This record gives sequence, structure tokens and C-alpha cells, in this order.
Amino acid sequence: MTERTIAHTASARPGISGPSTLQTKAPSWLRSYHRREHPAAWLVCFPHAGGAATSFSKLSAALPDDIELLAVQYPGRQDRRAEPCAADITALARGAADALASYTDRPLFLLGHSMGAIAAFEATLLLEEHSTVAGLFVSAARPPAQDWEEPDVDALSDDDLVVGVRRLGGVPDVLLRKPESRAEVLRLLRADHRVLRGYRCAVDTTVKAPITVLLAAEDPKNTLEQMRDWAMHTTGQHAVEIHSGGHFALTECTGEIAKLLGRYVHDRLATKPIDPPALLVPELYLAGPDGRGFRPSTDLTTLQSAAREVLPPSAYGYVAGDAGTGATRRANREAFDRWRIVPRMLRGITRRDLSVPLFGHRLAAPVLLAPVAAQTVVHPEGEIAAVRGASDAGVSFVLSSFSSHSMEEVAAAAGEQPRWFQLYWPSDPTVAESLVRRAEASAYDALVLTVDSPAFGYRPADLDHGYLPFLHGLGLANFTTDPAFQAGLPPDADESAVIAHWAAISTNPSLTWDGLAWLRELTSLPILLKGILHPDDARLALAHGMDGVIVSNHGGRQLDGTAAALDCLLAVRAAVGTAVPVLMDSGVRTGTDVVKALALGADAVLLGRPYQYGLALDGRNGVRHVLRCLLAELDLALALSGCVSVRDLTEDMLAPAARLTAPQPKSNNSAPVRS
Ligand code: FNR
Ligand code: LAC
Repeated sequence: MTERTIAHTASARPGISGPSTLQTKAPSWLRSYHRREHPAAWLVCFPHAGGAATSFSKLSAALPDDIELLAVQYPGRQDRRAEPCAADITALARGAADALASYTDRPLFLLGHSMGAIAAFEATLLLEEHSTVAGLFVSAARPPAQDWEEPDVDALSDDDLVVGVRRLGGVPDVLLRKPESRAEVLRLLRADHRVLRGYRCAVDTTVKAPITVLLAAEDPKNTLEQMRDWAMHTTGQHAVEIHSGGHFALTECTGEIAKLLGRYVHDRLATKPIDPPALLVPELYLAGPDGRGFRPSTDLTTLQSAAREVLPPSAYGYVAGDAGTGATRRANREAFDRWRIVPRMLRGITRRDLSVPLFGHRLAAPVLLAPVAAQTVVHPEGEIAAVRGASDAGVSFVLSSFSSHSMEEVAAAAGEQPRWFQLYWPSDPTVAESLVRRAEASAYDALVLTVDSPAFGYRPADLDHGYLPFLHGLGLANFTTDPAFQAGLPPDADESAVIAHWAAISTNPSLTWDGLAWLRELTSLPILLKGILHPDDARLALAHGMDGVIVSNHGGRQLDGTAAALDCLLAVRAAVGTAVPVLMDSGVRTGTDVVKALALGADAVLLGRPYQYGLALDGRNGVRHVLRCLLAELDLALALSGCVSVRDLTEDMLAPAARLTAPQPKSNNSAPVRS
């Protein structure tokens, strides 16, 4: 770097200096080596153990013109040598986070190399208390909760330490040969390793920022396997990028990595941020009565009648309709009503965490869109609008086998959240295999095998209208685009031949428990069985290699008179134990319903008809609205019941309504207890 460049990099911004401002009195945490005139984003880089801000000067030069790199200078080195080294990671994270407090005018990305990844992770946690971090890049570093197995460098001789440093690279050999510079390198390494060895992090500590792991293909210290657990530390997206080079590729051969970082930052800048659920309520009050424009009600229980006004009777009948007399649908709602929340007070809850871990990902909220067939029945954009609305709200979706858009089209429209594919098991095994392979290829993260529908239920509304969407060609996209399905058609097949073939092979009523082995062998994706009500079926699911269950009666659309799904939850949870994912659906309508389902043992819930009503009323915005309302109410319900996170939702915060309303014994002044 030339003197001119150095002079140019000196910045007037508080907390930042170019190298020309060496020896200023106030400790300055940030260095800029290549000032950008109009940066679109800041990339703040945390150095490795023994490293310093200058480690990032090459990367700074190589970044695209609209990304300005700010390198963190830890105390105790280079121009901050007079200061003592930090005592722990928190001190490093706090110093950098405070210096970054004024950097709110552009999206902020953090990047940490080796030990710096941990400091950057902790700084992200601190920054997210008040603002947003657009992305976190972690390079050459194992996840925070993993044991780093660092050798105790204080127990190593200087010579042994130098051998280790040479093995990893990153320190010019000339520095290791001269006694003075060698002593300085070792002093810093020892100080930083002490900090690293004292670091501990709980497995469920999460940032909201998406995490991108940069893994060097020839790094002797880190493997892909070790990196996967970074996914557990974010409620946002997680990705691993493998690049060439060794442990110090990031600071040495920067072209490829600068390009990769540029791509991520630019993609991210193009993505709309997700509104935190807590913002909906102030947003609506501040908009005032005139700010409403067209928007469905925030009372999600009223959307069914609003949707009825806008849908043709046959479409409304298909979505809202029940099996038989509707007894199961009513039972689903009554079951929620039979439980009451007994909130706790004065717990000082200011922020809530709605996120849940599921199958190696962290979902931003314990809610997914349930698989619903043929969504063009209610809106011309069908599933495309629905998944976009889900993505706007940060929610995952489950795509039905019987969707109106193919799973590839839907994947292309989807956001960053994990997505699942629901499988109706076709009786033609070549079609079954093909659907699974396509779901894998288009990055669906789990399969949901629905087992409660060997046939459609007895549905008077549809029977009276003589209406089944599939017979009108709706909901067949995954089949009409499937090569195995097409191979089974006669060459001159017209629409009715396609529909007849679909009707013949799209489900397999002869499927038994033993048949599941075939699917288990076929894919390594997690498989959940949907439609489980009996605890013995939940046990059988596990015995047959399934990874989770969804307690559901299909929203009362299949067998009328079955038990409410919520009523079956406790027994299913007890049958499978605490470690197996158990989800539930059928009758969830409000944020407090989600509270009850989670308190009774569900890890997450699926929402069915309400988002279909949102879709019917206002397309993508309608789905977003429904989800934002549900999550805002859930968030408030946590606040009002004294819970900081959905993990705090336990059975002892519920009481059966019947017990609360029955006369209480006079002496009983303790909290209501479940009978
Ligand atoms: C469904 N459901 C459903 N389930 C499934 O596994 N595959 C599917 O294709 C469909 N299709 C479908 C269509 C329509 C119009 C509805 C309303 C439902 C059932 C769905 O996934 C879920 O179990 C229920 O909708 C949950 O009940 P609530 O939330 O609607 O009460
Ligand atoms: C339904 C089917 C498709 O409920 O699951 O209509």
C-alpha cells in the first residue's frame, strides 16, 4: 500500500482511523484502508488470534467498489500496543460494537477470521440488541458452542508454538526468524489464545443475521462436518462456502473470496429485511384509522367469512369445507378453548425470542404454512404468492404434492427460510422416486409424508357442488412436469387422460408401515409423518425410521368425529420422548393457540385455512398479513405471560378451563394445577 493510499484512507468518522492516525490518544477500534466514496455496505473484519487490523488490507483492496472494509484493531498490538490485551472475548466484542454504534446509515456485515469469528459472533449479539446486522461471515472457525480443543499455549515452549504457527501459515517467516518480532508474535498469540480458551457459549445462542461459513478446502484445522453446527446459531439463513487455499486463504489470496463476499453482500442488499413481529402493533397504531387502506382484519377468526364474500361457492366450499357434520373441526377449536393460560408477572421481559431449532436449522418462529393443495383455487398466483408472503414474514412453508405450481417454480420463488415438501405417496414407484429426487434437487429440507388420506374424506360441500379441483386440472403441476409421470401417459394423452392417470397413480391406499422402509432407504432427508393421532402410531413411526410426527386430523377434512389434534398432543409427546420433533396442526387460529400447542408439547405448529383466506383476500400481502398478525400476537402473548422465549412455554403455565371454573377448595391459594 502506498503513502498516498494511507493518506486517503484517514476518515473523519468517529471511532475510525486510517493508519496515518497512529498513536492517537483515544483507543480507536476501526481501520479503513481503502475508503469508498459511496459505500453501499460496511464489512467489519475481526482478525485471528495473534493478528491485527492490517491482516485485512489485501482483502480491503480486492472488495468491490461499493463495499468498504473496516478492520477491527484489538488492543495490545500495532498502534494499540501500549494498551493491555483484552481479558476476554466479550471485551473485544463490546469494544467493536460500541465503535460501530454510529454505523447505522448502511447495512453492516461482520466477518471474523478464526478467533475473530467468535468475536464477530459476540459483537453481532450485542449489536442486535439495538439494531440489525445484515450478515455474518465466519472463516476458519468452528461454531461457538463446539469445544475448540485449543492446546494450552502457555504450556508450549516458544519453539513448539512457532512450529504450530508455521504449519497454519499466516505469519511471514521473516517475522518468526527475527528474535524481536518473533517475541511479539508469540506474546500476542499467547494472550489471544488465553482469551479463546476461556470462551464458552450455549448451544442455543443465536443471532438473527444469516451466517455464511467460509471454509478453506485445504485448512488442516477445520472440516465441513464441524462447520454444520453454525446453522444452530442463527435464526436466519445458513450457508457453507468452500473456497481454495489453507487456513489463511482469507488474508492471503483474496481474489476468489472477495468476489464471493461481494456476491453475498449484493444478494443480501437486494433482499427485503423481515419485520420483527413486535413491530406490527406500533405500525398499525401509528398508521391511524386512515392508514389502513385495504387490509384484512387483524382478528384472524373473521377471515373465513370475509373470504366467503370474494370466493366462488365451490372454491370456498373446497377450502372451508369439513368432513361429515364438521364435528372434528369444531372439536379442534373447542380443545384450544378448554385450556387457559395462567400468566406470570414482573419478570422484566423486554424482548422475546420466537425461534426454534428443527432438523439442523433454526426457524424464525414456531409456525409453518401447512401443505394445502391446488392453491390457484383461491388465487391466480396460488402457491407462488403464498410462499412469497411466507418469506416476507420469515416463515417456512410445506408445499403440497398436489400444488398448482411445480416444486421447482415454488423453490425459485421462495425465500431463505427452510422449505419442506409434502408427499402423497404415488402408487407408481417410479413417480414416487422421481418426486423425492426433485425435492432433493430443488433444496427442500424435509419430507412430510401424509398418512391420513388413503382417500378423500366424505365432504358434503364438495359433493353438493360436484367440485374437486383436480378433476379440473388444478393441483397437478408436480405430475404434469414429472418425467416418470409423463412416461406413463399414452403418446396422444389429452387433459382428461392426464387427469385419469393422475387419479390412478397419485396415492397408494395399500401402503403399510413396512412400506416405509423403501422411502427411508431412498432419501436421507428428514421424514415426518403427518396425520398421526394415536401414540402407538407415533411409536411405530419412530420404529420405522421416521424423524418426526405431525399430530393432525387434516383440519377435520378427513374422518369426521375424530379426536381434536390438540387433545392428542400430550400422549404423542409422551410416547416419543422429548428429543423427537412433534408438530401439530388443525384448528390453530391465534397467537395464543400457538402458545397452548407449544406448552402441550409441540415444537411448532402448521397453519392451514387462515392463510388460504389471506391468500383469497389479498394474495401475497394477505398471507404476509395473516402471518404477521399471528406472530405479533404470539410475541405479545409471551410478553404478557412472562416468557422470554418459546422454550419457556411449558405445560405448567396452562390450566384446564373446567378446573378453573369449578369451585376451588377454600384453603387452596396456590397457582392452579392440572388435574
Ligand atoms: C389441506 N391439507 C392438506 N394436507 C396435506 O398433507 N396435503 C394436502 O395437499 C392438503 N391439502 C389441503 C387443502 C385444503 C384446502 C386444506 C384446508 C387443507 C390439510 C392441511 O395441511 C392441514 O392439516 C389443515 O389445514 C390444518 O387445519 P386448519 O389450520 O385448516 O384448521
Ligand atoms: C385435501 C387434500 C388434497 O385436504 O389433502 O383436500
